Amino acid sequence: MRTHYCAEVNAQHIDQTVEFCGWVNRRRDHGGVIFIDLRDRTGMVQVVYDPDVEAVFATAEQVRNEFVLRVKGRVRKRPEGTLNPDLATGEIEVLGKELEILNRAETPPFQIDDVDTAEELRLRYRYIDLRRPEMQQRMRLRTQVSRALRRYLDDHGFLDIETPMLTRATPEGARDYLVPSRVHAGKFFALPQSPQLFKQLLMMSGMDRYYQIVRCFRDEDLRADRQPEFTQLDIEMSFIDEEQIMQLMEAMIRQVFKETLNVDLADPFPRMTYAEAMRRYGSDRPDLRCQLELVDVADLMDGVEFKVFAGPAQDPQGRVAALRVPQGARLSRKEIDEYTNFVSIYGAKGLAYIKVNDCSAGRDGLQSPILKFLPDQAVDGIMQRCDAQDGDLVFFGADKVGVVNEALGALRVKVAEDLGMMSEAWEPLWVVDFPMFEWDEDSGRWHALHHPFTAPKVEQLALLQTDPGQCLSRAYDMVLNGTEVGGGSIRIHQQAVQAEVLGLLGIDQQEAEEKFGFLLNALKYGAPPHGGLAFGLDRLVMLMAKASSIRDVMAFPKTQSASCLLTQAPSEVGSNQLKELHIKVRALQKDQS
Ligand code: AMO
Ligand code: AMP
Repeated sequence: MRTHYCAEVNAQHIDQTVEFCGWVNRRRDHGGVIFIDLRDRTGMVQVVYDPDVEAVFATAEQVRNEFVLRVKGRVRKRPEGTLNPDLATGEIEVLGKELEILNRAETPPFQIDDVDTAEELRLRYRYIDLRRPEMQQRMRLRTQVSRALRRYLDDHGFLDIETPMLTRATPEGARDYLVPSRVHAGKFFALPQSPQLFKQLLMMSGMDRYYQIVRCFRDEDLRADRQPEFTQLDIEMSFIDEEQIMQLMEAMIRQVFKETLNVDLADPFPRMTYAEAMRRYGSDRPDLRCQLELVDVADLMDGVEFKVFAGPAQDPQGRVAALRVPQGARLSRKEIDEYTNFVSIYGAKGLAYIKVNDCSAGRDGLQSPILKFLPDQAVDGIMQRCDAQDGDLVFFGADKVGVVNEALGALRVKVAEDLGMMSEAWEPLWVVDFPMFEWDEDSGRWHALHHPFTAPKVEQLALLQTDPGQCLSRAYDMVLNGTEVGGGSIRIHQQAVQAEVLGLLGIDQQEAEEKFGFLLNALKYGAPPHGGLAFGLDRLVMLMAKASSIRDVMAFPKTQSASCLLTQAPSEVGSNQLKELHIKVRALQKDQS
């Protein structure tokens, strides 16, 4: 139906007759001449209709935004003064000779290029929203990224193997999406939170190197970088160690960045232990574009009067940390109050601060509501340890370690963003040496920091029995600009160790048998040492596209409340269908009322 895509035509085509198909981006009437900006996947071209050709002109007059057209015309140079340098086709225009309206369009619910359109409206009419050049570009980038990933993995001998969607619950820590079975009354499939157990079974099947670009389902609270269904690049390998996996995987990411964005990422990626990341950045996915760091000051608070600091300083589970903000003394009272509100989201009970006006003037050069509670020694110690300079501001967090880390960890990035202190660089790193377990106060149990199939460090195996909290795992996360883009581990391949870890997690033999019997069994029949990881493909593309939400790089995402505005899913179903699935309609209705 066409000879060219819209943006393919340029000065080289002058005097040629060309044919395009596309959508009307805009139609303008200029004193008897009609201009149509025709848009397709590649971009835009200007088509001009003169009144001389009456029949064609009459058709052009009927055309409205988003009509679908087929256009035939002759390429000509634009008159001097009307060149459009912003447009790939800005040097030329097409003098329309024929015009066919392939389809009409009602007035669209929003102007396509209006950047202020509410996301809700965009999602409801996603097929219109996706016509935007920016969205088309993102879909293209996504294609390029997955193609580059596949090429790399193919070149390195990985097999692309599919795993079931209708399966058993997989333990990635979120709630499951369940699918009722019609054939087996009262039984349910779960949609996979990841192919974790299947990929391990594939290693036990001798596949050696596996990958899959695969959908995962997790019913969890959504955020800007979380969707209930999302895509992983899932990978597993046999007879390797963490060093080899990390090298192979960072080389892959470097290659993809080079091929698709022409960006050279660090070689090698820096590595940081979990303990160091938490201490310096309060986060296990530190954003290294921001230089600000947390500094421990608990030891300086020994015996000070100020209970807010003294309490956590003496608590083995407490932390007192400072965060120096260079040139932060210019922050107003109101801005500091806003930051205090910001950290309260993370459970912080306040946000003490000291403004440093003049270092040489001792106490008189400082300004702070907490100064009166702190002895000279403590104040001097803080100033020295933070290396505070004139014009700085020092924030403080004092609470349980978790609260201080989350609050100051988020604050450092927020302040840096607000004050323009984030670098423009790409900052990848590996975080390693995670603890195996975290103590969960609520349930009074150990909880796996990665998942229950992650191997402990070989030399620390004995700690499983003596001091599980001190035992480190063979897990690794890849972090890029403060986002966890991927994570994985070397797995447990000995049945006895697996049983012991499940036991520590409070999963007794019977439950283990019931839930993971197939895996425990497989471990008895010759399981090779193996390990792997999974990347969040949507997250990776979101970062690469510099999009602010994961929704922007998915064609048909769900809203923050896990629904689809386009199809109105989830939806109610008829009572017949429920009955077939052995779901008691009456019970359901009663529950709702
Ligand atoms: P994990 O749970 O860390 O590991 O997930 C791997 C990566 O998937 C991405 N991700 C998400 N992306 C969008 N929306 C979500 N709700 C979401 N949840 C996770 C993240 C994350 O780094 N089976 C293990 C991997 C392994 O051990 O090999 C797993 O799923 O980028
Ligand atoms: P208060 O004595 O409670 O008014 O607190 C004095 C200062 O300490 C205020 O600036 C509070 O914001 C701050 N503050 C209170 N609790 C904490 C905390 N847990 N961590 C850091 N600062 C706090």
